Amino acid sequence: MTLRTIKTALAATAILGCAFTGMTMADPVDEPMVIDGQNITIRAPAPEFLKGVLPEVLSGWLYRDEDTRKMELDDFDNPGIIYADRARDQWEVVDGTEGKACVSCHESPEAMKGLRAVTPRVDPDSGKLMNIEAYVNKCRTERMGAEAWGDKSDHMMDMLALISLQSRGEIINVAMDGAAAPFWEKGKEIYYTRYGLLELSCANCHEQNNGKYIRSDHLSQGQTNGFPVYRLKDTKITSAQGRFVGCVRDTRAETFKIGSDEFNALELYVATRGNGLAVEGVSVRH
Ligand code: HEC
Ligand code: HEC
Repeated sequence: MTLRTIKTALAATAILGCAFTGMTMADPVDEPMVIDGQNITIRAPAPEFLKGVLPEVLSGWLYRDEDTRKMELDDFDNPGIIYADRARDQWEVVDGTEGKACVSCHESPEAMKGLRAVTPRVDPDSGKLMNIEAYVNKCRTERMGAEAWGDKSDHMMDMLALISLQSRGEIINVAMDGAAAPFWEKGKEIYYTRYGLLELSCANCHEQNNGKYIRSDHLSQGQTNGFPVYRLKDTKITSAQGRFVGCVRDTRAETFKIGSDEFNALELYVATRGNGLAVEGVSVRH
């Protein structure tokens, strides 16, 4: 143990009162995820750049308790599906000065199949890093003459759920090379930076200590393949960046804003750590 890790462990123990030093450790379950007869890949060999760091990549679902896991296996029990259904209605709602609805240009939500598995990505036309939320708001503001939806608004979360669900089961393959490379590097740097009073990085918790318990919470690898998630604790849908906010706050740090350059880059980088896992659609977490 370096002085730094000891210091971190002490700070974490003092403030979180947790057994972060590894006293309690439990393996994630080894169960398949089958939804509606479709097998969803939730365990896969780690992508090349994580070789030697993580042996395999695992969905956060494998770390949750049985009741929570079960809810995601049946669309009638998964509360997130209702939000996606709401967006299906919204798809037809005319809004903005152009008198258009999503359906005016995108025949159906099914036309979005595949998108969730390859985003965030750099848009070839604008060179901008785009996640699904950014695409939706681009259409609203530039093509519909409507107001942007808020990052955590019901409309945006519903739409995120609906669009993500179209790619359920598809293997995540987010690009990290070419135009994505500078964003990926930036995201990686943030991932390994220690923030806050606790001086903890994403990696300290999700890379080095996954499998351990922190405040009776079973630490996963912090993968984003399940996003958006329906959180039982919040009784609502949360985006990946919404989750990052909570994690950074837990280190007693000022957090970046949703949609900031920092979090956009981080979302891209974290997504590539899950390349090989499948999109869950709308997942259920505690
Ligand atoms: C006036 C036409 C128009 C309207 C209305 C519109 N879009 Fe789009 N949208 C486009 C065009 C053009 C693109 C560029 C990519 C393409 O060729 O599909 C696009 C791209 C997208 C993308 C990125 C997908 C991709 O394959 O590149 C998403 C997501 C999206 N729109 C969602 C929506 C949603 C949700 C609505 C309603 C709130 C909406 N759009 C309304 C025209 C429109
Ligand atoms: C103090 C430890 C800690 C730090 C630091 C931390 N997290 Fe987390 N994170 C958690 C806990 C606890 C959970 C909930 C249990 C789980 O899924 O690991 C969680 C959940 C997540 C999830 C949801 C996983 C899922 O499948 O539902 C993601 C994504 C995530 N974290 C990303 C990050 C990122 C990115 C960072 C760095 C900005 C970060 N976390 C920093 C503790 C931490």
